[in-house]
Amino acid sequence: MKILITGASGLVGHSIVECKAMQEHELLTPGHKELDLEDMNAVVEFLKKEKPDCIIHAAGKVGGIAANTKAPMEFLLANMDMGRNIIYGAYKAGIKKFINLGSSCMYPRNSEKPLTEDMVLKGELEPTNEGYALAKVMCARLCEYISREHPEFQYKTLIPCNLFGRWDKFRTERAHMIPAVIHKLHEAKEKGLDTVSIWGSGQARREFMYSGDLADCIAYCLDNFEAMPAYMNVGIGHDYTVDEYYQTIAAVIGYKGEFVHDLSKPEGMKRKLTDVNLLHEFGWQAKTSLTEGIRQAYEFYLATEQ
Ligand SMILES: NC(=O)c1ccc[n+]([C@@H]2O[C@H](COP(=O)([O-])OP(=O)(O)OC[C@H]3O[C@@H](n4cnc5c(N)ncnc54)[C@H](OP(=O)(O)O)[C@@H]3O)[C@@H](O)[C@H]2O)c1
Repeated sequence: MKILITGASGLVGHSIVECKAMQEHELLTPGHKELDLEDMNAVVEFLKKEKPDCIIHAAGKVGGIAANTKAPMEFLLANMDMGRNIIYGAYKAGIKKFINLGSSCMYPRNSEKPLTEDMVLKGELEPTNEGYALAKVMCARLCEYISREHPEFQYKTLIPCNLFGRWDKFRTERAHMIPAVIHKLHEAKEKGLDTVSIWGSGQARREFMYSGDLADCIAYCLDNFEAMPAYMNVGIGHDYTVDEYYQTIAAVIGYKGEFVHDLSKPEGMKRKLTDVNLLHEFGWQAKTSLTEGIRQAYEFYLATEQ
């Protein structure tokens, strides 16, 4: 197939382009400068000219809590505009297959039980990234409506848990927890610091998947597109405490100091775990262990950030 991958320079997009199983396809990977997804006319022109068989929408304005809290308007508008333009533009251009990347922030906050696909819009969103989450919900619903009104258009949404990997952002305020901790512990080791401070109790639980596994899952989805559910979580199905992430990263980096907990700092939700029953029924499971994924990410960090 001829496949357009949006956001090919990002964490997810790069991982898809690198994935071995994707090499059997012809991949179109225009950069942001080449194709600004916030420009509807440019999107329509591009799709008319290139006529891809399928689109994987992995572009987005993505950031951590600080960036999202500071600029909810920008996160809402950019992601809504990009999504609307590429999804509706694909429909107008007659492209029948579409994989939209959602996010587990589309789910209600503070759920006691693992998040199942039917829980979208079933409760209050996490306020710190509400703008981003609303845009993600809108894009998923737009895909669903198009497929419902025109069943020959199969527009489906994958909902990944938190991701990390090669091509991550390690230093900026956009960095997510794992890359930020890799950078922090690497610096602590270099400077010979005896202690490193962790925000909160360290007992909050988080689910992170290696981005190479998400790419592998997307390749599997393309091979089994008809059977792929309209909404499907992609996760590892279990979570670790923040302390466990720090310990695993420290072991990979070789940081030997101690951790202290700063209880005056926020630690976010207690838990956010996706339910992966549908994913497993579909026939795919994540393969990369946390330690191996962190090793890959750290190698990338050393090669690119030093
Ligand atoms: N990272 C995670 O933990 C995670 C978890 C769940 C879901 N997801 C979803 O996965 C998708 C990709 O995330 P990511 O982590 O790969 O993000 P990322 O590393 O920040 O990459 C985002 C990509 O989108 C491109 N982009 C941004 N604005 C654009 C525009 N107006 N036109 C064209 N391209 C534009 C960026 O290009 P420039 O850098 O050149 O602007 C970049 O290539 C997003 O939909 C996100 O919600 C991510």
